[in-house]
Amino acid sequence: MRNAGTCQQFVKAGTSVPDAVLKLQAIVKRFGTVTAVDRIDLTIERGEFFALLGPSGSGKTTMLRIIAGLERPDEGGVFIGDRDVTALPPYARHVGMVFQNFLLFPHKTAAENIVFPLRMQRLGRAERDERLAWAMSLMRLGGLEDRYPNELSGGQQQRVALARGLISRPALLLLDEPLANLDRELRSEMEVEIRRYQKELELPFIYVTHNQEEALTMSDRIAVMHNGAFEQIGAKTEIYTNPATAFVAGFVGHSNRFEGKLVEISGGLARMAWQGDAMLVPVPRDPRPGGAILFAIKFEDLEIARAPDGVDRTGRNRLAGTLRDVIFKGQTANYIVALGDGSEITISSAPRGLDLRMSEPVIVHWPVARGATFHV
Ligand SMILES: Nc1ncnc2c1ncn2[C@@H]1O[C@H](COP(=O)(O)OP(=O)(O)OP(=O)(O)O)[C@@H](O)[C@H]1O
Ligand SMILES: [Mg+2]
Repeated sequence: MRNAGTCQQFVKAGTSVPDAVLKLQAIVKRFGTVTAVDRIDLTIERGEFFALLGPSGSGKTTMLRIIAGLERPDEGGVFIGDRDVTALPPYARHVGMVFQNFLLFPHKTAAENIVFPLRMQRLGRAERDERLAWAMSLMRLGGLEDRYPNELSGGQQQRVALARGLISRPALLLLDEPLANLDRELRSEMEVEIRRYQKELELPFIYVTHNQEEALTMSDRIAVMHNGAFEQIGAKTEIYTNPATAFVAGFVGHSNRFEGKLVEISGGLARMAWQGDAMLVPVPRDPRPGGAILFAIKFEDLEIARAPDGVDRTGRNRLAGTLRDVIFKGQTANYIVALGDGSEITISSAPRGLDLRMSEPVIVHWPVARGATFHV
């Protein structure tokens, strides 16, 4: 049996690509009045795990289909390595694709499904068998070659789909929500496995998902897509801690939101007037004193205490509220707090030692530099 080390050489030997594996230049794709992809530029480097994160209808699948050659862009160019492939058919692009619903042929066995992409490449039998053995071994599918898809578990079907995506030695692998149909446990297992294969093969992956946790777990870099365009593109830590727009903030979990007015900027912080209270928050981009702003912060960035707690909280914002509900989630619990204006916020915290009672007055507090602020 081959191991991962030989797999890596096997894939690399078949491809000769410079460091920029893929370049998209000003790609536009329209369907009637809908602009599904709106002037996208993108460079994918060798060995990169790139996640494309966005809500339904934001253009993710259309972008993958353009890269794979299943769709022609109305404008712009697609370059793989240093070749302009914009007008080339899918089989001439060295791109593998794993589809959302696996799309396995039901009347073909696992082995026949996996070798299917090799049909267009006139390979000798010996090489085809060697590649099949490699892909089956990599995906731990030994012994399952003669099974039909309905005789395989969800995870096994997923691995057949991955093996099929890899067998033609692509320069780039595109994955369109490949784990969407799996249950939660199998899904987190596959997340770790897929990332491991990717790193072993040093093969660039473009991984589409609308699940922020999946994107954060697996990728090196993320683009958040909205209405056919990138709202933000960058390292995942940057996207997570420093979202550029309110849309991105909402998408990566800054789910507590306060709308107020920017009063002034001093000491590197913005003073926001909110419901007769004042909060110190990060300064928005292009600050305009007097303007309406939105402050967004994650559940886990807030803390909760029984009121009145009398603790000196210099350097922290504090709001008074009433505990409405506690949702136990195992390691953490979500505390739902009603604020004076009737709105509710959620605090995620370790449940240990916090024996708060329903309807009890509480204080919610957090360091002034946390969260993100945007003009609205
Ligand atoms: N063949 C088509 N004909 C007409 N409109 C299309 C076609 N394919 C996609 N669209 C439209 O283009 C937009 C982007 O669709 P796309 O499938 O790329 O979204 P997506 O981000 O993959 O969404 P999802 O997360 O639901 O899969 C949508 O408004 C969609 O309705
Ligand atoms: Mg899609």
